[in-house]
Amino acid sequence: MAYLEIKNFCKKFGNNEVLKGIDLSVEKGEVLSIIGSSGSGKTTLLRCMNFLETPDTGVMILGGETLFDAANKRAKEKELRKKRLNFGLVFQSFNLFPQYSVKDNITLAPILQLKERCKKDKTLNFAEEKQKILEDADKLLAKTGLTDKKNAYPCELSGGQQQRVAIARALALKPKILCFDEPTSALDPELTGEVLKVIRSLKGEDRTMIIVTHEMGFAKNVSDKVVFMANGVIEEEGAPKAVFDSPKSEKLKAFLSGIRDKEGE
Ligand SMILES: Nc1ncnc2c1ncn2[C@@H]1O[C@H](COP(=O)(O)OP(=O)(O)OP(=O)(O)O)[C@@H](O)[C@H]1O
Ligand SMILES: [Mg+2]
Repeated sequence: MAYLEIKNFCKKFGNNEVLKGIDLSVEKGEVLSIIGSSGSGKTTLLRCMNFLETPDTGVMILGGETLFDAANKRAKEKELRKKRLNFGLVFQSFNLFPQYSVKDNITLAPILQLKERCKKDKTLNFAEEKQKILEDADKLLAKTGLTDKKNAYPCELSGGQQQRVAIARALALKPKILCFDEPTSALDPELTGEVLKVIRSLKGEDRTMIIVTHEMGFAKNVSDKVVFMANGVIEEEGAPKAVFDSPKSEKLKAFLSGIRDKEGE
């Protein structure tokens, strides 16, 4: 069994069938890119995996543990929050907390979690554990090239810097799987590269990542596997070279040639 297994995810909004039986598997340390035209269901799939939407049918298993089973979906909010922590999610819009500094954006959630843990486990030393969180944050700041911005506020940063803070913030919670939803589509081309570079560096650390992207060159270079979605189904999937260089489905061929036409404009 793969590290992450999704079976038969279906999701309807009213009469609109947005996911029509998605099966997906991701190995540990693998980078999966999801491509597809607007409205094909990519964000909805990520939101279902992150418990931000509830699939109508399907099962999700991570590391052998069933995290979601539509046949038994009456999970309590507390359990959901815990399950959600398996995944880190970086959105297109950075969603930083404007009133907090860069470093506080990164440490806020881990410190809140620590407070909860300390309530339950009286043997934990809050000050010591907090120090570890602050040190971890410094490492993440260095990794994302933001050490000199740690006391800045989000409004003082470029879009690329804000997105790198969002990545550091997601990593601070030590997710098993890091998901990105078009992490660069709100950025100017010159800022896109710096964010993609950070994501690429995470691949070197053997992180399991799922990346919805419109950056085809990046998907081709960084992914171990590419999934092409169309109208709520996985139309084609495979190694990046196969998907990009010898697409089989007509829909994928049309999608890729549409993108090449745009790039050639
Ligand atoms: N909360 C919602 N309520 C109703 N319909 C929704 C909701 N979220 C998504 N949809 C619909 O689901 C379909 C798929 O949307 P989704 O955002 O998953 O597409 P996408 O592949 O991420 O597109 P894009 O590339 O534009 O981001 C669309 O028709 C959208 O209108
Ligand atoms: Mg989307």
